Amino acid sequence: MVKPRAQLHNLSVCEHGGKPGTAKNSRVIDFSTNLNPYGPPGFLSEALKAAIHGLNRYPDNECRELRAKISNKFGCREEEVQVGAGVSELIPLVAHAFAKKRVLMLKHTYGEYELAARVIGAKVKQIEMPGLRIQPELIVAEMKPEDVVFVCNPNNPTGQYLGKEEQAPLIEAAERLDALLVIDEAYVEFVPDAYPLHSCVSSSRNLLILRSITKSFTIPGVRIGYAIGSEAIIQAMQKIKAPWSVSVFAEKIGTAVIGAAGDAFLKETTAKIATGKQQIENEFAVQSDANFYILDVGDASKMKAALLEHGLVVRDCTSFGLPTHVRFSVRSEAENNLLINTILELISTRNR
Ligand SMILES: Cc1ncc(COP(=O)(O)O)c(C=O)c1O
Repeated sequence: MVKPRAQLHNLSVCEHGGKPGTAKNSRVIDFSTNLNPYGPPGFLSEALKAAIHGLNRYPDNECRELRAKISNKFGCREEEVQVGAGVSELIPLVAHAFAKKRVLMLKHTYGEYELAARVIGAKVKQIEMPGLRIQPELIVAEMKPEDVVFVCNPNNPTGQYLGKEEQAPLIEAAERLDALLVIDEAYVEFVPDAYPLHSCVSSSRNLLILRSITKSFTIPGVRIGYAIGSEAIIQAMQKIKAPWSVSVFAEKIGTAVIGAAGDAFLKETTAKIATGKQQIENEFAVQSDANFYILDVGDASKMKAALLEHGLVVRDCTSFGLPTHVRFSVRSEAENNLLINTILELISTRNR
């Protein structure tokens, strides 16, 4: 039998929340996927109907309509924007285009960075997170020329967001050393008053921002995301992107959510999520800048299984290197109450 390349021998498929089958059961409430519980926005049905007329042609491989909207929203040039089938397509694209020897990432972070690095045979260096906190100075101390450095901001699963002052030394070090700093902002729309990092793209040739539309607009089935970076970085990624990976439907939906209607939806729903966060922080000693939390429950796998018996799905954080933690997202008030009370009940029964 033909063997796969050596780099694939010890690789396993990356763990994710929201396994098909779990969320399909209407009696199950899925806290494992970090989606906005108030979406998708109703106005998307019009976009879907409009897309039907494009079924008989290939999608625009350059996603011009959507890139124009993104560049307009963020005040950057269209040449500085690339659209992909979710950030999930863009992460391996960055690695393929730029990772030579080494990829840096946080110790407890999104698993696809490591997979993307290992597939191409790059070395992976994990940056320690004392007390589960990101310390930008530890990332800077480790950075070397030609490194690709993935920073998830806010970080999945810990929820910590690095603001302007904490991102500045990372950007400066990437410039000085000629490394590529990739900031994954998949959850940034849930962070109140987040720093508009895109304003740095025109002045930094070593910065790439990844943005997902999946979480904030509750459209995991669509597969659409984008990158903002210098024209040279975007051109290199575009060279190796699979043609037509963004479907006619995905581009139409992306075009519909970027702009005033999408902004209004985000404003209204993130205000509701803020109330849910208060509810959770009142009950547990947890803090997060994002729409999800991690909680130390002793044994994540047991807690996940016990919650599932009650129809509640959380993410076991073992694959993040945190076998005592579960991660759960903020949902509606009633659903949050159900989760909080069930966890408290399970902990108190265990301690009896
Ligand atoms: C940090 C992070 N980046 C990217 C993604 C993937 O995003 P998309 O749905 O745009 O592919 C996820 C999904 O869980 C994520 O947690």
